[in-house]
Amino acid sequence: MSNYDVVILGGGPGGYNAAIRAGQLGLKAACVEGRATLGGTCLNVGCMPSKALLHASELYEAATGKEFANLGIDVTPTLNLARMMKQKDESVAGLTKGIEFLFRKNKVDWIKGWGHIDGPGKVTVTHADASRTELSAKDIVIATGSEPTPLPGVTIDNQRILDSTGALSLSEVPGHLVVIGAGVIGLELGSVWRRLGAQVTVIEYLDRICPGVDGEAGKTLQRALAKQGIAFKLSTKVTGAVPSASGVQLQIEPAAGGEAQALDADYVLVAIGRRPYTQGLGLENVGLATDKRGMLAHQQHRTEAPGVWVIGDVTSGPMLAHKAEDEAMACIERIAGKAAEVNYELIPSVIYTRPELASVGRTEEQLKAEGRAYKVGKFPFTANSRAKINHETEGFAKVLADERTDEILGVHLIGPSVSEMIGEYCVAMEFSASAEDIALTCHPHPTRSEALRQAAMDVEGMATQM
Ligand code: FAD
Ligand code: NAI
Repeated sequence: MSNYDVVILGGGPGGYNAAIRAGQLGLKAACVEGRATLGGTCLNVGCMPSKALLHASELYEAATGKEFANLGIDVTPTLNLARMMKQKDESVAGLTKGIEFLFRKNKVDWIKGWGHIDGPGKVTVTHADASRTELSAKDIVIATGSEPTPLPGVTIDNQRILDSTGALSLSEVPGHLVVIGAGVIGLELGSVWRRLGAQVTVIEYLDRICPGVDGEAGKTLQRALAKQGIAFKLSTKVTGAVPSASGVQLQIEPAAGGEAQALDADYVLVAIGRRPYTQGLGLENVGLATDKRGMLAHQQHRTEAPGVWVIGDVTSGPMLAHKAEDEAMACIERIAGKAAEVNYELIPSVIYTRPELASVGRTEEQLKAEGRAYKVGKFPFTANSRAKINHETEGFAKVLADERTDEILGVHLIGPSVSEMIGEYCVAMEFSASAEDIALTCHPHPTRSEALRQAAMDVEGMATQM
């Protein structure tokens, strides 16, 4: 039996950050991960490979479409999909190796295998060759992540009916890709394959895309993606799927009921959300149970079982890598007896389409529901000189500020590179900044970030560039 201060189950952004921080704080830490590589969903089959394909496909489309030609660059590009996939896989391999290096640097043991909780402070790891290792620990952190939510009647086989992992490694460009779910995965991976030449249809049960996103920003994103050629079927449900060797026939009908229709696809991507993963974990051995959604509850990352903690996708809150990372840091600091807090009000979210959509804080819909009086400042990228010179003028920056105090309550950016700019507002809002604070802060010219300042200036009607 090997003894540790802390044993972490899962080597994703939650687990690996927890393990590294534990090592930094001088705790004897082990991270149990059953995958062949560290990094979890994010590095292996999530954030990183999807961004690799978004980047490559964006450049491909710029080169094949009018964008390069309009800039005076004449090229005749051809798609080498195998090479595009290879460079993605190489980048991912580099990143996962990087986590191994950080484990060694911080004296964290990676125990390769699947962990099972046998009782308080006891974990058994089953290795690939079926051998077992027993571990004991003062504290156990559950960071086992999430998996795709299945859709009854549409069985994922990763041949023709894909989950996100399958859609990240297709060996051909689909003629027609049908995406079920107009959420983050559907829009990002739908964009990748449309740019590479597929006809893409997105089917969404609700009457809007991306529920939870600021309504005005969501509508603008849908318009932009529709203009690029993605077809949306909103308020529509899929009731069945029949795969064959060459494609899939879907049965669809109006969400509210009505006449059924057949829809043929070469491939189908099911992206209707993710659910917490706790399968075979032995929760019952420490008296823990999940809620109906499979979620493990916590109070400041402590579960109801003494010495058992939980972080990341497997617990409540947005299923985002940076949220898992923040929880990891706070959880380990608490285990080490320090004070730590995660500010759940200020977790940014980004949809990496083109234009990108980045948000932090409250949406207009939330403020209205809360009955909170607020002011709106807005600035379009059509009026931003850098966006204009780059011919990237879609979208806007919107700042929502408290009517009385001017405190910034929410920020919604849709446009070029906004994922890289939302951080400015995250910092400002952590310090309870007012819109005026941003309005009075000098920003470099010419940058797109000036649109963010102008939106803050517009809260008091003093935007100078429109
Ligand atoms: P995970 O990353 O899921 O890691 C959990 C790990 O635990 C897994 O490796 C699993 O093998 C392991 N495990 C499970 N059970 C056991 C066990 N019993 N023993 C040992 N190991 C176990 N988020 C963003 O913030 N930005 C993005 O751009 C983004 N893009 C995404 C794109 C896609 C296609 C997908 C699917 C997700 C994306 N996400 C993104 C979400 C992000 O990947 C997750 O929020 C993040 O990975 C959660 O981290 P985690 O550590 O909680 O869980
Ligand atoms: P999602 O929750 O973002 O979107 C799912 C969509 O499917 C919703 O619009 C929902 O209304 C719809 N839906 C649900 N059931 C349906 C049905 N039966 N038929 C048709 N539509 C249905 O989930 P998604 O896209 O699967 O992504 C899972 C999670 O992964 C995200 O919520 C996010 O946390 C994370 N992620 C984050 C990314 C980022 O930060 N850029 C990128 C990709 C994933």
